[in-house]
Amino acid sequence: MGARARFPKPIDMYDLLATFGTNILVTEGEEWKRQRKIAAPAFSERNNRLVWDESLRVVNEMFDNVWGDKDVVELDHVLDITIPITLMIIGAASFGRRMSWKEDSAAPTGHTLTFKGALRQVSDRLVLSLLFPQWVLRLGTPGMRSYARAYEELGRYMDEMVQERRASTKNEERYDLFSSLLDANEGQLEGDAKLSDKALLGNVFLFLVAGHDTTSHTLAYALIFLALYQEEQDKFYKNIMAVMPEDRAPTYEDLGSFSYSLAVFNEALRHFPPVIGIPKYSAEDTVFTLTNAAGEQARLPVPRGTYITVSSSALHHNPRYWDDPDAFKPERFLGNYPRDAFVPFSGGPRGCIGRGFAETEAVAVLTTIVSRYKVEVREEARFAGETFAQRKARLLKSQHSLTV
Ligand code: HEM
Repeated sequence: MGARARFPKPIDMYDLLATFGTNILVTEGEEWKRQRKIAAPAFSERNNRLVWDESLRVVNEMFDNVWGDKDVVELDHVLDITIPITLMIIGAASFGRRMSWKEDSAAPTGHTLTFKGALRQVSDRLVLSLLFPQWVLRLGTPGMRSYARAYEELGRYMDEMVQERRASTKNEERYDLFSSLLDANEGQLEGDAKLSDKALLGNVFLFLVAGHDTTSHTLAYALIFLALYQEEQDKFYKNIMAVMPEDRAPTYEDLGSFSYSLAVFNEALRHFPPVIGIPKYSAEDTVFTLTNAAGEQARLPVPRGTYITVSSSALHHNPRYWDDPDAFKPERFLGNYPRDAFVPFSGGPRGCIGRGFAETEAVAVLTTIVSRYKVEVREEARFAGETFAQRKARLLKSQHSLTV
């Protein structure tokens, strides 16, 4: 048996992400293969190009319409920009649904919440759906009622998207994930089972949640690290200027040249992988051979049915693989690095299908921001006496909900 079959996913642990319907993440075996085959073509080069263009559009629109011509922009919390940025990108590149910074404060006809508002609330507090049935939430505390409304609104929005797309005559080429998913589904050969409407919704929901919660937080960490480590930001800025010296707009063709940008993103992912543990179980009795720092070996029997978690955080901080693991050094990703010890996207056939999407988005967003602005920590009288270590601890204080 290959490693994939020996260590499958304990899919009962993923109920939370199946609340809108079955999907690629919450299935195993033949059903997973079928769903992955239908979803995979959507994550294409053309979709990456769309991700790039939309990322630039969203960030530039923030510069022009929200920040205006201010020389200095102050933010209370960096997530106040990274969450809307990633939501707007996922809206456009996943669903062909453009949102803007200015409009979208009022709900459209037929809705009581905006799409952005509904999605944000649901991904923030999804655990409520696991704890309580919808009817209890509807009758619960004001917080529960507000969540229940957001959940129902999001369901309506997703339903509408499926129906609209079905009804529209396809006369324009669309490369958003959702259109491609529908096309692949409709184009399934006779005998190959199509995804049901429920599974389409389940996957749509998964793309929405998996596609923005992870990236928005990683971008936030990356910007915080850059603010803390000004010398790293200088190197990054120089790399940007070397790729596009005459202050022109970056293009998709430049993507591969913005090596420092990807390195900054990777280093942020190494420090704070949004998914801290990758659940598996052992499908058969097996034995692990473990080696400690002194090189001594030990055998660990692993009976069939044992739950196993690959701890990305631990692996990413293991000094056996990473020199000075607590330091922020994007350069470690410029050359050879221990790829097997870097698993923010998991790995192998069950690895993240959206990795290219996320990397493209991150490079576009970080590059655009750092090419125009210098990112700094706001000086505040109440923190005047703090040391660098205290400041770093304050800014990087984290908690875990759906992701870190
Ligand atoms: C920084 C960004 C991201 C990180 C760190 C990340 C991380 C991961 C990880 C660790 C897994 C495996 C989960 C497990 O085995 O339990 C995964 C799976 C997945 N991710 Fe991502 N992800 C990111 C961005 C995205 C984006 C942008 C999308 C889609 C637009 C996406 C869609 C998916 C899907 C559909 C799966 C399930 C794949 C399968 O089971 O075959 N992810 N991701």
